[in-house]
Amino acid sequence: MKQRLIFLGPPGAGKGTQSEIIAKENNLLHLSTGDLLRAEVKAGSVLGKEVEKIMNSGELVSDQLVLSIVEARLQSTDKGWLLDGFPRNVSQARSLEILLEKLQKPLEIVISIEVDDDYLIQRLLARGREDDNEDVIRNRLDVYKEKTEPLIDHYKSMGLLRSVSGNGEVRAIADRIKAVLS
Ligand code: AP5
Repeated sequence: MKQRLIFLGPPGAGKGTQSEIIAKENNLLHLSTGDLLRAEVKAGSVLGKEVEKIMNSGELVSDQLVLSIVEARLQSTDKGWLLDGFPRNVSQARSLEILLEKLQKPLEIVISIEVDDDYLIQRLLARGREDDNEDVIRNRLDVYKEKTEPLIDHYKSMGLLRSVSGNGEVRAIADRIKAVLS
């Protein structure tokens, strides 16, 4: 079973849902930059207020901020890990590669979870998080296509990418992912 993985996919693909299942069943650290940033917003700090504005517009927060969050957690764990929502662009991916080289813990696999856009929008509107209104969802999808989707080719060229369909029942998708990880 792979121990160091990334879940890649557009907003609503099910990265968070699947990360929780796979991390729990395999005793991995689930590291969601979105959840960690939302915790910062909830804490009401000055930084949290800045982050909140950016998240509610659907844009990405600064590379430097998310990198410092990820770095601190990866440096302080002996467990395997699952990154959900990070990296989000090629610059973050390169920074992660430098960090993992320093830690001598190479990435083992990147799972790209694939779902059609129409279905993504329906799922997110049904959830209704603060950044789940139609205009912001469309911007999040545009940001994904422009900045995050190039990571598919990036990881393909490194021989690390595997694609899994994110359509259908949650449990059936988890079983598909587990088959790829084993
Ligand atoms: P983040 O929290 O990462 O949000 P996201 O990528 O937009 O992802 P979502 O949480 O919307 O979707 P998901 O794929 O996790 O799906 P989920 O399982 O939740 O990021 C939010 C913001 O934070 C960003 O816009 C940015 O501003 C900032 N940020 C985060 N990371 C950053 C980074 N690295 N750099 C810079 N900025 C960063 O499922 C969605 C819904 O669908 C749920 O209601 C779920 O119950 C439902 N669902 C899931 N699977 C199924 C299924 N199979 N069938 C039916 N419904 C399903």
